[in-house]
Amino acid sequence: MNILILGSGGREHALAWATLQNPKCDKLIVAPGNAGIAKIAECASFDINDGGAVCEFAHENAVDLVIVGPEAPLAAGVADRLREAGFLVFGPSAAAAKLEASKSFTKEICDAAQAPTAAYGHFTDADQAKAYATAQGAPIVVKADGLAAGKGVIIAQTVEEACAAIDDMFGGAFGGAGAEVVIEEFMTGEEASFFILVDGETCLPIGTAQDHKRVGEGDTGLNTGGMGAYSPAPVLTDAIAQKAMEEIIRPTMAEMAKRGMPYQGVLYAGLMIENGQPRLVEYNVRFGDPECQVLMLRLGAQAFDLMHACAEGRLDEAQVNWADDHAMTVVLAAKGYPGSYEKGTVIKGLDSLPEDSMNMMFHAGTAEKDGGIVATGGRVLNATARGATLQEARARAYALVDATDWPDGFCRRDIGWRAL
Ligand code: AMP
Ligand code: GLY
Repeated sequence: MNILILGSGGREHALAWATLQNPKCDKLIVAPGNAGIAKIAECASFDINDGGAVCEFAHENAVDLVIVGPEAPLAAGVADRLREAGFLVFGPSAAAAKLEASKSFTKEICDAAQAPTAAYGHFTDADQAKAYATAQGAPIVVKADGLAAGKGVIIAQTVEEACAAIDDMFGGAFGGAGAEVVIEEFMTGEEASFFILVDGETCLPIGTAQDHKRVGEGDTGLNTGGMGAYSPAPVLTDAIAQKAMEEIIRPTMAEMAKRGMPYQGVLYAGLMIENGQPRLVEYNVRFGDPECQVLMLRLGAQAFDLMHACAEGRLDEAQVNWADDHAMTVVLAAKGYPGSYEKGTVIKGLDSLPEDSMNMMFHAGTAEKDGGIVATGGRVLNATARGATLQEARARAYALVDATDWPDGFCRRDIGWRAL
């Protein structure tokens, strides 16, 4: 098969790596890709958020299946355009991608499906929103309704802080994303990520992971896109995962189908777990980044069979063969991230790293320059490793970090601390 993957991060490098292990893959193209991806696949350059451009490229290159990595092309309807043109696609329609693109939409689906989640109010007016926050009291969570690049969530410790956040959002601090605001009960507990493939009807869990969102050790400092992850997440036990499937995932997916917008692709459920009870924090309509990297290392070649079965609506006959193993990924970021940082700094030592089924340095923000590798983003590399235990995976992942020569980068040294 000729396969096209859309995206340029560590997530897409991991998806490309797993796809290439599978004998079904004859040719792999990634658009736009990065320097790490370019070493294993062909990279192409066109606007991946433009459905017309993606269809044209897919026609010209006789593509059999398109795997969409990030949310932006999904929200822009790229999967719809591809399906209309007769291509097989792994990724939801724009209508179904509203599960990530609109927080109030997701809350309404949860209500209709009676899925456990935080109590909430949905507002288009600042005064009503402030009255609700004041009546509920703090701590309370204020969210811009739309896509805000992970920045539209404020956990307010006081009512004053909540009201200031509401004013900011309606004042345009998050652009169109803040024209509507959702105010939620603050949930306590431990968070974990749950990944499920859905083909419109069948829901197949494919793994759990835990991310580290804060930039600093001990989960301190500013929020980031994620500084490291491991899989499986011990807090999401089989019993809790089953409860989440029965109470949250299957009912909400059935509600989507009932409304004529069946979900197809990977569903990433952020869950809050307290006293054995999972509640939904949020849905994302794509793999997590860096969670995807640990899932792909653990799944290997079968990841492609599962995505292919999902795209063809055959998940009822698919099966996940889990090894009893653990994986960890440590994000190397440019010094200064998530604030301002330098671009174009040189990274050395990558050529001599072990890269096999146990160890992979996935690239996130890199480019080739004058025969070397330079950093082009905030999150730059993902040192990813597998082991019989989490300790073993961690030792390998940090060995990859330590063998990398990048004076302008940093990482957290405590990835996995909760589980260890
Ligand atoms: P979201 O973009 O909705 O995932 O929110 C980002 C992060 O904010 C989540 O990963 C949680 O850590 C936190 N968060 C969001 N909503 C709540 C809530 N209702 N209660 C507690 N924490 C929350
Ligand atoms: N790692 C968090 C996310 O992908 O949204």
